Amino acid sequence: MKLLPLSCVVLAFTVVHAFRYEDLVEHVDSHQEQYVQVLREWVAVESDSSDVSKRAELHRMMNMTADKLRAMGGDVMLVDVGEQELPDGQMLALPKVVTAQFISNPQKPTVCVYGHVDVQPGKLEDGWATEPYNLTEINGNLYGRGVSDNKAPVLAWIHAVEAYQALNMELPVNVKFIIEGMEETGSNGLDAMIVAQKDTFLGDVDYIIISDCGWLSLRPALTYGTRGNCYFSAEIQGPKQDLHSGVYGGTVIEPMTDLIGILDTLISPTGKILIPGIREAVAPLSDEEWKTYQDIEFDVENFKNKLGVSELMYNNKVDLLAHMWRYPTVSIHGIEGAFSAPGTKTVIPAKVNAKFSIRQVPNLDPAVVEKQVSEYLQAAFARRKSPNKLKVTMLIGAKPWLADTQHGLYEAGKKAVKRVFNVEPDMIREGGTIPVARTFQDVTGKGIIMIPIGGFDDGIHSQNEKISRYNYLEGTKLFIAYLHEVAQIQKSGV
Ligand SMILES: *[C@@H]1O[C@H](CO)[C@@H](O)[C@H](O)[C@H]1NC(C)=O
Ligand SMILES: *[C@@H]1O[C@H](CO)[C@@H](O)[C@H](O)[C@H]1NC(C)=O
Ligand SMILES: [Zn+2]
Repeated sequence: MKLLPLSCVVLAFTVVHAFRYEDLVEHVDSHQEQYVQVLREWVAVESDSSDVSKRAELHRMMNMTADKLRAMGGDVMLVDVGEQELPDGQMLALPKVVTAQFISNPQKPTVCVYGHVDVQPGKLEDGWATEPYNLTEINGNLYGRGVSDNKAPVLAWIHAVEAYQALNMELPVNVKFIIEGMEETGSNGLDAMIVAQKDTFLGDVDYIIISDCGWLSLRPALTYGTRGNCYFSAEIQGPKQDLHSGVYGGTVIEPMTDLIGILDTLISPTGKILIPGIREAVAPLSDEEWKTYQDIEFDVENFKNKLGVSELMYNNKVDLLAHMWRYPTVSIHGIEGAFSAPGTKTVIPAKVNAKFSIRQVPNLDPAVVEKQVSEYLQAAFARRKSPNKLKVTMLIGAKPWLADTQHGLYEAGKKAVKRVFNVEPDMIREGGTIPVARTFQDVTGKGIIMIPIGGFDDGIHSQNEKISRYNYLEGTKLFIAYLHEVAQIQKSGV
């Protein structure tokens, strides 16, 4: 008998495992009403993690998520991550973290998808045009609290797995899920769980995927970095109680004057951080990176109009994007104890406490930044020779995250975007902070990618949050295509 040439065998093998993308797309399109209906049921759960009176809803949301994954045959666990201490000392159970796995073949690579199903607060009286927890479709947009951040992306991932199952197609890679319910208030308990499951649930995970962000424009994007954040309080204590400015003004050294004085030393009017050591530590902008920004679709005029300002800190695209994503900045958020009500109260506040933060980028180190800021403000305060007391505290010290865009995960992402949208994705960063990415990176050392499906104008955390039906469905197709492309990473040895 004549032996078949090897190429024939390979061809036969390939044919059996051909990627029936069109069939999967057809499945998604024909099931879109069901997808919207499930999203409606999820949005109807007021899983607001910041409101402790909604805790039962949050538990119900985690149960619904677990039930959905269990019904698909997943190996599902509700992981107890402990309790949360409330300001009054009471202890409250944290929502359990849902883990699930769909193992098609232990020889295949394994991805772990992270998402969250808790939401920000949403009230009609905050200025919503529709009931925040009643999913409402207007002109192709699905409005509801938490749709874009992060319920529809989580469901899109679930439906991607479901589509393969429905067509009796083996999953191209094994898929695991970690779905939490405390993201909007700081992911309490999650870091410890990730550390505890490093060698168990996460032990055989090759890649981590996060879809908890949005595009920059109408063009799809892949996200490869986020800024961290060091959040400070600077408290100045003066007289033992508030004073009348008519009676005592001119006799005491006022804490508010001291505070404004030292806050004004943080950053120049042109956006230059004045704290020594911070600008010097920032990784330099390479020519290659500059070119990447040059290629990104971003309309400066549009951006300006959207914000309703007549001028920005920078006038060109590259400088703007760079300062949004890869340079640190100081933002002053508020002053506790300051008079802020309407009217003309003539008070001298006795104690004021400013909150400000410094966005973190490579190669800043929050521990070093804490020391630099504290010493700098104490020195600025000392120069005033004030008898008042200054206390500087760092409340949050979240590190930035930056992925290796040469990793096969990004090449796979580009191919998947090309297949679904027929364009090249924008390679973007997030100016905000997604601390879990850095935790996954530090604990597991695995490749991480962020693949957003939310629109640039979804209004997350804001009134009238939405996701378009288009992004929800095409996003589901993107995840379907991505699972296929990730399986190719191993084959070509990238
Ligand atoms: C969630 O499920 C658990 C276990 O089945 C059950 O004990 C609990 O009452 C459920 N909680 C809610 C709020 O539905
Ligand atoms: C949601 O909104 C629709 C349309 O306005 C309305 O018919 C329906 O009764 C509302 N459902 C709930 C649960 O409020
Ligand atoms: Zn989110």
